[in-house]
Amino acid sequence: MQQIFYLIWIAISGDYHHNKGGRMKRIVSLASALLLLASVAVAAEPAAKPAAPQAAPAAAPAKPAVALTSADCAKCHVKAPADVEAKGRAHKTKVTCQDCHQGHPPTVRKIIPLCGQCHEGKPHYKLGGCLQCHKNPHQPKEIVFGRDVTDPCLTCHSPQIAQLKANPSKHTKLACSFCHDVHGKVPQCTQCHKAHSADQGPGDCKKCHKAHMPKTVTYAADTASKQCAACHTKAYSMLVASKAKHKSLLCVTCHQEKHKMVPKCQDCHGVPHAAGIMTKFPKCGDCHGIAHDLNNWRTAPAAQAAPAGKPAPAHKKK
Ligand code: HEC
Ligand code: HEC
Ligand code: HEC
Ligand code: HEC
Ligand code: HEC
Ligand code: HEC
Ligand code: HEC
Ligand code: HEC
Ligand code: HEC
Ligand code: HEC
Ligand code: HEC
Ligand code: HEC
Repeated sequence: MQQIFYLIWIAISGDYHHNKGGRMKRIVSLASALLLLASVAVAAEPAAKPAAPQAAPAAAPAKPAVALTSADCAKCHVKAPADVEAKGRAHKTKVTCQDCHQGHPPTVRKIIPLCGQCHEGKPHYKLGGCLQCHKNPHQPKEIVFGRDVTDPCLTCHSPQIAQLKANPSKHTKLACSFCHDVHGKVPQCTQCHKAHSADQGPGDCKKCHKAHMPKTVTYAADTASKQCAACHTKAYSMLVASKAKHKSLLCVTCHQEKHKMVPKCQDCHGVPHAAGIMTKFPKCGDCHGIAHDLNNWRTAPAAQAAPAGKPAPAHKKK
């Protein structure tokens, strides 16, 4: 009721900032109030029918007396203007209330705009249900969605789905928003998974995994051996205990870039011995044992082949 009175007041005062008191007595009944309300709406919508005679009597003859401006809206509406003020963004700076709401009830009944009136030409604007995510048109970037959204994301992001599909994994079956539950948020792997060992922190996962192709494990040349030790305790402890020079190398100096890559000794050492020796003992390991425990003669598989000149450490434990 208060709002209606206000509208009437605007209608009859023409210049509603002044002479409020004198005109109020003209309000005689609810019937005329509604008539006046109608006239305001009409005035706000120039294309509509001419105003009823009672409306804006002789007020301000020069201009349409009661045309609402966007500044007037806040006099009756509280939330919308406050929302726009706080987070209206482009809907505050690039458009006015009246660019979207043309006219006003009761004369103009449908004053809620369709987003498509102004947004067209991109795949994103062909989605249905804009207000399902853009919950509040007065705060267009306050976006909310559930945890089952994939297709709408693809109207703007395409490389990720391509990667997920090209590298099938259990992540491929998850919705984008199952992980990115707030737009722009990037989750940590440890939100859903345990680390492989206590040595790993949440920041370490990306050293080996990519979220959209988690089964393809690759790593950089400076990856610490402790990271591998999480699963390869035997190789790690053997190498650490070894006395040979390989001990000072990182796992990834030999097992480069991609998980399960296994190097050949010759990749690094070329052909270190005379052809005669190599013909007789074709495998390096026949004399040197395994890469992680080089020259540990006692435990090497072909200990006998170890050259006589090399003393075997008698009590070396594995
Ligand atoms: C004098 C008070 C008053 C002013 C000023 C006013 N409104 Fe309203 N507005 C109302 C009332 C009362 C209603 C409810 C009318 C109805 O539901 O028929 C309403 C309803 C609305 C609605 C909802 C329509 C719908 O279909 O649900 C919108 C949108 C709206 N106003 C926008 C505006 C805008 C934009 C302005 C400024 C240009 C404005 N109003 C100025 C009183 C006012
Ligand atoms: C970009 C277009 C746009 C702009 C700009 C805009 N609105 Fe709206 N407004 C809408 C849409 C769309 C709805 C319907 C929302 C819904 O259905 O949930 C709406 C709903 C409303 C409503 C009725 C529901 C409510 O929130 O109370 C009022 C009142 C309203 N707007 C007033 C205003 C005022 C006042 C301004 C300026 C400060 C304004 N609007 C600016 C698009 C806009
Ligand atoms: C009267 C025209 C109009 C209507 C109707 C309209 N918009 Fe807009 N909107 C704009 C303009 C202009 C911009 C500024 C962006 C631009 O330059 O293209 C904008 C920007 C936006 C933005 C980006 C805001 C920012 O600051 O980055 C979003 C999101 C948006 N609109 C969503 C919507 C949704 C959802 C609807 C329907 C509820 C809607 N708009 C209805 C005119 C409109
Ligand atoms: C599933 C949720 C969802 C739906 C449905 C949705 N949007 Fe969006 N919209 C978004 C997200 C997320 C953004 C990106 C916001 C950002 O850039 O930060 C966005 C951005 C926008 C933008 C600003 C950026 C741009 O590309 O112009 C506009 C405008 C927009 N949406 C309009 C619409 C319209 C119109 C509809 C309905 C046809 C719609 N949206 C439906 C989620 C949605
Ligand atoms: C209208 C286009 C649009 C839609 C729809 C959209 N996004 Fe975005 N998204 C963007 C833009 C633009 C950015 C960059 C924003 C920035 O830099 O602040 C972004 C950023 C992101 C980021 C952060 C990227 C980074 O490098 O930190 C993630 C994650 C993301 N979006 C996921 C999603 C998901 C998931 C969906 C679906 C629920 C979605 N987006 C829907 C346009 C969109
Ligand atoms: C299993 C969780 C998960 C799923 C499902 C997922 N993402 Fe991501 N996304 C992430 C993580 C984590 C990152 C951070 C980068 C990384 O670790 O590789 C990321 C990064 C992003 C980025 C930032 C740019 C980039 O590529 O690194 C965008 C954009 C993005 N995701 C969009 C999407 C879209 C779109 C989908 C659905 C097609 C999707 N994501 C599915 C977890 C996920
Ligand atoms: C929002 C939760 C979530 C986030 C965040 C997430 N994942 Fe997953 N991940 C899952 C679910 C669910 C599965 C499937 C588990 C199952 O079925 O046992 C999965 C499976 C996996 C698998 C096994 C894939 C397969 O096909 O066997 C790997 C590897 C994996 N995640 C790594 C990661 C890594 C690395 C990150 C960070 C980049 C990450 N995940 C982020 C939820 C998540
Ligand atoms: C040094 C490389 C490396 C790092 C760092 C790493 N991972 Fe892995 N991760 C792997 C390898 C290799 C596999 C595959 C093992 C296999 O083939 O069974 C794997 C498998 C997984 C799996 C699927 C199998 C399982 O154990 O459930 C998940 C989930 C996973 N990693 C999560 C993580 C998370 C979370 C982090 C960070 C805390 C992380 N990974 C850090 C190398 C790594
Ligand atoms: C999450 C556990 C996990 C992590 C972390 C991990 N691996 Fe593995 N790795 C495995 C599994 C499981 C196998 C397969 C073992 C098998 O087939 O018997 C494997 C196999 C291997 C193989 C043997 C391939 C072959 O052909 O026999 C090498 C080499 C290897 N990993 C190196 C590494 C290196 C280097 C790192 C650190 C960058 C690492 N791994 C990190 C789990 C892991
Ligand atoms: C990724 C390169 C690489 C691979 C693969 C590699 N090595 Fe080495 N190796 C080295 C480096 C580097 C040294 C240390 C050289 C130095 O410090 O003088 C070394 C040292 C050695 C030594 C001297 C040991 C010592 O303690 O004096 C022997 C013997 C040796 N390698 C044998 C092998 C054998 C056998 C293989 C295959 C099972 C192999 N290497 C694979 C890089 C490699
Ligand atoms: C000097 C190079 C080198 C270094 C350093 C190295 N490896 Fe290896 N690794 C090899 C070679 C060569 C093989 C093939 C078997 C052989 O000839 O000894 C191998 C075999 C393996 C295998 C498969 C056979 C097995 O023993 O289970 C795994 C797993 C492995 N390495 C993991 C690791 C891990 C983890 C580290 C770090 C703690 C590491 N390697 C350090 C060269 C190396
Ligand atoms: C018949 C036994 C035998 C075979 C087979 C053998 N080596 Fe050796 N290797 C030796 C002996 C003996 C030494 C000298 C040890 C010393 O001087 O301390 C040696 C030394 C080395 C050295 C260290 C050279 C230096 O300057 O310190 C490297 C590296 C090496 N071998 C690599 C290899 C590689 C790679 C293969 C396989 C292609 C291989 N060896 C095969 C017996 C063998």
